[in-house]
Amino acid sequence: MKILSIETSCDETAVSIVEAEGGIESPSFKILGNALFSQVNRHREYGGVYPMLAKREHIKNLPPLLASVLKQAGMDKTKRPDIDIIGVTSGPGLEPALWVGISFAENLAKLWDIPVVPINHMEGHICSVLINETNEFSISNFQFSNRIQFPALALLISGGHTELVSMKDWGKYEVIGQTCDDAVGEAFDKVARMLGLPYPGGPEISKLAEYARENNLPRVAKLPRPMIHSDNFNFSFSGLKTAVLYYIRDKFNKDHTKMSFEEKADLAREFEDAVVDVLLHKTERVILETNTKTLIVAGGVIANKKIRQTFTELVEKYPDLILKIPTNSLATDNSLMIAAATYFNVILNPKILDEQTKIIANGNLRL
Ligand code: KG4
Ligand code: ZN
Repeated sequence: MKILSIETSCDETAVSIVEAEGGIESPSFKILGNALFSQVNRHREYGGVYPMLAKREHIKNLPPLLASVLKQAGMDKTKRPDIDIIGVTSGPGLEPALWVGISFAENLAKLWDIPVVPINHMEGHICSVLINETNEFSISNFQFSNRIQFPALALLISGGHTELVSMKDWGKYEVIGQTCDDAVGEAFDKVARMLGLPYPGGPEISKLAEYARENNLPRVAKLPRPMIHSDNFNFSFSGLKTAVLYYIRDKFNKDHTKMSFEEKADLAREFEDAVVDVLLHKTERVILETNTKTLIVAGGVIANKKIRQTFTELVEKYPDLILKIPTNSLATDNSLMIAAATYFNVILNPKILDEQTKIIANGNLRL
């Protein structure tokens, strides 16, 4: 099955053409074309994603990205391409941005007479772990094959979400824990802003924290681990962010420019450690209380080195537990994960191909 996938939920415009086979049991995907344009440089001056700018950028970027993937796949853009289905992210995300991808997908579907299906971005993040990139630059050589043992547990950590999802099977998801306020990536970005670091703040905080660890800087800053011992699987990161704000207010008179590089690095390390402690503790509790066979950790924040390392170490303690983490480029938003999710949606419910109804963007779409 050849799939054209489109992702425009936030500030990454992405289009892929993927050939999928093997069904649910042993899915295998071959990447025929893949193109992504990150708008981060455009949004940096706003200190975060500016939805109307994201919308305009997606409108501008989609046609050349489509032309690029068709070319990579050796398909003639003047003819109906050899594509069986189009998958497009319909939520969650920024609605003005989502609508651009949906309209684009529906226009192509009409033009080429190909069915189009809506895809949940979070299911896309889960599916990102099925993609095994061997060589990012040699697209035609991409081949990957994978299988998830159920029951599985997915920890989804991104700019908009922090969720623990119990998975009985593909398509059978139950959110058993989530953030009560800020998402973990959002907290990274807000703390970075408090330290005068550019958007997106996650990688910046991570670099500072690594410096503090490598140079064994004295541990001065102390932050709370919100909700770590609460008797549920929910999270809260806004209190942690406020604790950082108070630390800068009380110690540096609200002015991050009064902080030395080392003081910022110490605070970044403590913040990262606090996030890691909470994520690890809650996830391990679910593992202990259930018979989880596979742990999936996905979403942009798993690009974080310390978090990747922590979960790798956790799984070493449980010999029967398999860990699935996407590569860094598949951790942050992309359209390959949307192609993989499209495949599962079609395999599980082939009727969706006949039930072509107008797709609606839903910024708050749930799993
Ligand atoms: O999944 P994603 O690309 O977009 C959403 O669906 O939200 O996640 C983006 C988030 C941003 O908050 C970004 O700061 C964070 O992932 N992020 C990181 C790192 N790389 C990206 N957070 C911590 N450490 C990183 N290395
Ligand atoms: Zn995402």
